[in-house]
Amino acid sequence: MTHPPNLKELVGIQAAGMVQTDSVVGLGTGSTAVFMIKELGRRVKEEGLQIVGIPTSFDSDVLARTCGITIRTLDDVKSIDIAIDGADEVDPNRQLIKGGGAAHTREKIIDGLAKTFVVVIDESKLVDRLGADFPVPVEVIPFALNPVMEELQRIGGNPKLRTGGGKKVGPVITDQGNMVIDASFDTIPDPGRLEQTINNIPGVLENGLFVDLADVILIGESGTDGIARVRTM
Ligand code: A5P
Repeated sequence: MTHPPNLKELVGIQAAGMVQTDSVVGLGTGSTAVFMIKELGRRVKEEGLQIVGIPTSFDSDVLARTCGITIRTLDDVKSIDIAIDGADEVDPNRQLIKGGGAAHTREKIIDGLAKTFVVVIDESKLVDRLGADFPVPVEVIPFALNPVMEELQRIGGNPKLRTGGGKKVGPVITDQGNMVIDASFDTIPDPGRLEQTINNIPGVLENGLFVDLADVILIGESGTDGIARVRTM
């Protein structure tokens, strides 16, 4: 029995192939980044690829170490050569929403510092306009939760505190010990402006709008002939 190709796996592996030896690599978070990290680990073991990884989350840190990738922090490196990370939405102007895994604060730091930021997505992440289906994740310090919720509403958002669903009672807590508000907006006419407006609210640490950061976007798609391939945007 044949299985449909896993587009996240396809694109994650292809992105890992872009990494050159002696690189400092920003390691993204999420189910697509998992394939990229595993492939980098394979290349380290089987091809002698020499890299150090800067993980964007606790999860990616643990996975990368398990895969045999040397991990460092931002205190140890002068620059990041390449970062590879997933996204929740990508619009035709190459702007992104990230933070479905509540890791967007560290992701924005590392992806933004990288000389080359490669986004890895399957075709389901392509949207005509940002925010149509996915809310903007906003990391907030718990002390400021209520005033931030009120301000997000005042600027036209519909904010909801992210909770753990069946896996945890109460709010999701980020790797920094903060909470996440998911704020839906009917339209986001100017993502860069909204990014700044949200970040200017006292108590907000970072939001998931990634504007003008992506250098390369790799899209895994099934194709009308049913053959999976990777397209660059
Ligand atoms: C983590 O906070 C996110 O920014 C992820 O990078 C994003 O949600 C993409 O995740 P998947 O690759 O699992 O779809």
